[in-house]
Order: sequence, then C-alpha cells, then structure tokens
Amino acid sequence: MRILCLASVFGLVGSAISQSTTADAYFGTESTIAKAGLLANIGPSGAKSSGAKSGIVIASPSTTNPNYLFTWVRDSSLVFKVIIDQFTLGQDPSLRGQIDNFFTAEAALQQVSNPSGTISTGGLAEPKYNIDGTAFTGPWGRPQRDGPALRSTSLITYANWLLGQGNSSFVTNTLWPVIKLDLDYVATYWNQSTFDLWEEINSSSFFTTAVQHRALREGSALATRIGQSASVGTYNTQANNILCFLQTFWNPAAGYITANTGGGRSGKDSNTILASIHTWDIQAGCDATTFQPCSDKALSNLKVYVDSFRSVYPINSGVSATSADVYFNGNPWYLSTFAIAEQLYDAILTWQSVGSIQVTSTSLAFFRQFAPSISTGTYAASSSQYSQLTSAIKTFADGFVEIAAKYTPSNGGLAEQFEKSTGTPLSAADLTWSYASVLTASAAHAGLTPASWGASGLTVPGSCVSNPGPQASVTFNVQATTQFGENIFLSGSVDALENWSSDNALPLSAAAYPVWSITVNVPANTNIQYKYIRKFNGGVTWESDPNNSFNTPASGSVTLNDSWR
Ligand SMILES: *[C@@H]1O[C@H](CO)[C@@H](O)[C@H](O)[C@H]1NC(C)=O
Ligand SMILES: *[C@@H]1O[C@H](CO)[C@@H](O)[C@H](O)[C@H]1NC(C)=O
Ligand SMILES: *[C@@H]1O[C@H](CO)[C@@H](O)[C@H](O)[C@H]1NC(C)=O
Ligand SMILES: *[C@@H]1O[C@H](CO)[C@@H](O)[C@H](O)[C@H]1NC(C)=O
Ligand SMILES: *[C@@H]1O[C@H](CO)[C@@H](O)[C@H](O)[C@H]1NC(C)=O
Ligand SMILES: *[C@@H]1O[C@H](CO)[C@@H](O)[C@H](O)[C@H]1NC(C)=O
Repeated sequence: MRILCLASVFGLVGSAISQSTTADAYFGTESTIAKAGLLANIGPSGAKSSGAKSGIVIASPSTTNPNYLFTWVRDSSLVFKVIIDQFTLGQDPSLRGQIDNFFTAEAALQQVSNPSGTISTGGLAEPKYNIDGTAFTGPWGRPQRDGPALRSTSLITYANWLLGQGNSSFVTNTLWPVIKLDLDYVATYWNQSTFDLWEEINSSSFFTTAVQHRALREGSALATRIGQSASVGTYNTQANNILCFLQTFWNPAAGYITANTGGGRSGKDSNTILASIHTWDIQAGCDATTFQPCSDKALSNLKVYVDSFRSVYPINSGVSATSADVYFNGNPWYLSTFAIAEQLYDAILTWQSVGSIQVTSTSLAFFRQFAPSISTGTYAASSSQYSQLTSAIKTFADGFVEIAAKYTPSNGGLAEQFEKSTGTPLSAADLTWSYASVLTASAAHAGLTPASWGASGLTVPGSCVSNPGPQASVTFNVQATTQFGENIFLSGSVDALENWSSDNALPLSAAAYPVWSITVNVPANTNIQYKYIRKFNGGVTWESDPNNSFNTPASGSVTLNDSWR
C-alpha cells in the first residue's frame, strides 16, 4: 500500500494505518475548519488576530517558540490568493470586504520604510512587518523577492474580476498603481540574490523566479487590458529573461529542479513543488518550460523529491535533504505535504483537459512507479493505461492527504509541522498558510481550476539576458592639469568602474579641460569607492589616499565635482 510506504517515509510506521480517514472525508470537514482558521487570523476582527490592523494577515497567533505574530508579504499574498480565487469563482461573495481590506493594508505596507529600503530603494522586498503595519527592524533574512510577485498576482486576479464587472475605474485608478509598484520592483530586481521562502538561503530560488515570471506575464496582460502600454514592453522583456533563467534550475541528468542555487545542500526542496502549484495554468497543458504540474520535468522532480525522504528519514537522525524539513529538526510540514497531493491533482485535471497522458523519457521513471511496464508514448483518455495511471496517481496523491489527516488533531487545528515519529503538531499553531494549503489542495481535489495567467504558448529565448538591477547615471568631473600626452582614467569598486583595475580603467574626456569627465551607469543605492588615475608614457599614478566614496542615488543622475588629489 502506498500509504504504508509513505508513512514509513515519514517515520510513522508504527501508527495505525487503518484509522486513516479518506482524503474525501478529510477535505469535506477540514476545508470548513481551515477556512474559519484562516479568517480568524485576519485583522481587524479575526478571532485569533487581535491587534492586527484591518486587512493584515498574521502568520500564526503563536508568540513564543516560534514567535510568528507578524505579517509576511508572502504568506499574506498566498492566503489572499485563496480568498480571491474563492470570491472570483463565485464560491463566497461575502469575502469582498476582506479583499478590499487586504488591498488597503498592503498598499500602506508598500509605503513603510524598513531595513530593506524605502519604496524606491528596494523596501518592497521586506519579508515581514509588525501586525500594526509598522516596520520590523530586527535582524532577518532579507530581502525576500517573492513577496512583491505574489502580492501582485493576487491583486491581478481581483483586478481581472473587477474588469469583468465593468469596474475599470477602480482598477485603473486605485489597484493598478499598487500592482505596478510590485511589478516594477520585480522587473528591476529579479536578477539579484534573494532569501528563499524558508528564509535560510541567500541565492537564486526556483520558487521566487517562477512566481516572478508569472507576475510579469499576467501584469503585462493586465497593463495591456487597461491601456497602460508604457509598462507592457518592460514586463514582456523581463518575463522572457526570467523564463530563460528559469530553465537553468533544471538538472537533466538527475531529473530534478534545483530549489536554490546556494545553500550547500542537495537543492531538493519543496519550494519546487510549491512553485509548480502556484504557477499552474490549465490552459498551458503539460508545458515543461513553465514546469506545469503535469510536465515531464515537474513529475520527475516530484519523484526525486519524494524519494529523497525515503532515503533520508530512516537512516538520519535529524538532517533531511530538504531545507523545509531540516527546520525544527526535520519534521514534515502540513503545507509541503498537501502541496505534493495538489501538484498531482492539478496534473490529473490537466490530463483530463488535454485528453491524454504523455510519457516521455524524462517522466518515465515517475510513471513506472504506477505502471512498471509503461513505455514512452501518448496514452489517450480512452486507453486502459490512462485509466490505470490516473487512478494510481490519485491514490498516491490521496496518500499524502491521509498522512496529514492522520496527524490533524481532532479539533482540526493545523500547526506548521507535525512530529515525524508521533505525529504531534509542532511549531507555530494555527499557521494561516497551513490552512490556505488545505483549501488549495481541496479545491484541486474537487476539480476547481484557478484563472489562467498566460502560461500557454511561451517560447524560451535562445540566450539568457541578465538584468543589472536599478541603475543611476553618475557624471564624474575631476579638475586635473596634465602634461601633453598624459590622460586621466577612473577605476573603482564596482564592475561598471572596472573593479579597481588600472589596466581597464575608464578614460575620461578632456573636452572641458582642465575638467576631465565621464558619465557611467552604476548600481543605484550603493556605496561606491573610486580613484582617478594618471597614465603617462606607460606609467600609472593613482590618486593619493583615502579612496573617494559616495552613495549612489535610487535612480536618476548625479554629478560629482572632484579635484585631483
Ligand atoms: C469597484 O470596486 C470597488 C472595490 O470593491 C468598490 O469600492 C467600488 O464601489 C466599485 N465600483 C463600482 C462602480 O462598482
Ligand atoms: C542573472 O541572470 C543571469 C542570466 O539568466 C544568470 O546567469 C544569473 O545567475 C542570474 N543571477 C541572479 C542572482 O539571479
Ligand atoms: C546575498 O548574496 C549576495 C550575492 O552573493 C550578496 O551580495 C549579499 O550581500 C548577500 N546578502 C546577505 C544579506 O547576506
Ligand atoms: C571584482 O573583484 C572581486 C574581488 O577581487 C572579484 O571577486 C570579482 O570577480 C571581480 N569582478 C569582475 C567582474 O571582475
Ligand atoms: C581603497 O580601496 C581598495 C580596494 O578596496 C583597498 O584595497 C584600499 O585599502 C582602499 N584604500 C584606503 C585608504 O582605504
Ligand atoms: C557639481 O557641479 C554641477 C554643476 O555646477 C552641480 O549641478 C552639481 O550639483 C555639483 N555636484 C555636487 C555633488 O555638488
């Protein structure tokens, strides 16, 4: 039985399998509890979120070990994506006020200066705030660049619904300026290092990159729809660049997606599964360039990720192969467990929509778990192989839900994690994101499909283009008298100033002699050190110490007026 196998994967062998409730029954009761639990964590009137400002989502009411009584942009945006999907799919018209509160709260958070910066200097990627809407100023893994992408995705879903209602003035005048700030942030900063969603690793993250790509695609479509054409070209260009970069996370030989480029672990992490479910677009079919849930790459990745538990849990006393699970001594998270099931439910719905399953050499090992003699090819919905595969994969997916179900306490409350040998709920109680993950898995299990975001028909550019991030234009003027044949150069602490090289130092123009001048684009918001250099007859003379130093502006241009020292 799959469930037994998975239980042993999670170290739960001794538990009574027969008491496990079915996934259907579990979703039937737990989704109601999860919805109430989620709403209880939203200010101003949620039952467990007293002190939270209107529209603010607390991560958890837990105030000690860990203290999660903060609002994270990522968690809040994912929670509100659930709420906005329920509202826009017509499931719960009562949610509109909550959504408007959320929008107002997030628009205010955007303006709060914080340790990541101000609104114009990178502050939008601050991961978390106090629940009264003020900045959290303690040390933290910052910036986290998925927040603006996820927030804009949620608000774009709402904007598209409002446009369908004919409410274009609210979208254009009120929603769009807020969405645009986040999208512009993504378009400018996607190519810079970020802390991952588990707040541990500072590198490039598959989840962050995938959701940034999605945000710019649907942002471009929204901009087009409301006539904000000035943004469209930038978003499209950067979306193409991100899509190109996204491909580089795939490891063809090992058949999995590298979750984070840094971190020194195997790179197998549930962030890749979460990326797949949060960028699902049924209209894209099983497209692998966007790692759709039923794509051969995403399925192979799911197998490698799940197998990593099999090898690690039984032999290992604390360190797992996934960063999610090294946290709090390697116990399973509800939301990561539900995500595996959800990816597979999404896959099944997409196969139904496409009308077939395609088995490729990349996904063969995944499918052979369910049909050991299956070979590569396309299996129509009418075939016996299709029935066999979808039925076995559904059972496999349900098995993950049943594990979580078994370790859900009788009141239905969901903490962050459950203890890997006893199943006792662990870490933060009533984690809002845990509740959201039940609701999205339950919706997929019930056959609901969220709105398309434009993943279909994309082509990956032939070569990847970097984005240098925000730039400022700096004119360096230096007054320097020189002898005939002597020239002035500039070198400094950033690549744009040739990184202190004297050989490659930038030549200045003497057009306004004795003022020598050059204008250079350099990183914005950065402390830059530099010196001028004289070169004469093969000899090189640097300016005397100390180095010149200045902070570049957030954008725009600045002129420096120096005298040779
Ligand atoms: C448009 O939507 C906003 C947000 O819910 C609402 O406040 C406003 O009344 C709506 N306008 C119209 C004309 O329906
Ligand atoms: C920036 O983009 C280039 C081109 O895709 C890529 O090689 C590089 O790793 C990216 N760096 C970061 C930090 O995103
Ligand atoms: C994150 O990594 C980048 C690139 O290695 C580095 O420039 C930056 O200082 C790091 N940030 C933190 C907070 O460690
Ligand atoms: C700039 O200099 C640093 C320190 O010497 C070095 O690590 C880095 O690779 C250099 N970058 C370039 C583009 O030469
Ligand atoms: C100027 O910068 C260079 C390169 O970082 C450094 O080696 C040197 O010590 C600095 N000079 C002074 C006086 O700080
Ligand atoms: C340098 O001189 C220009 C022209 O006089 C002036 O506009 C600019 O503000 C000066 N820069 C600084 C940093 O004072």
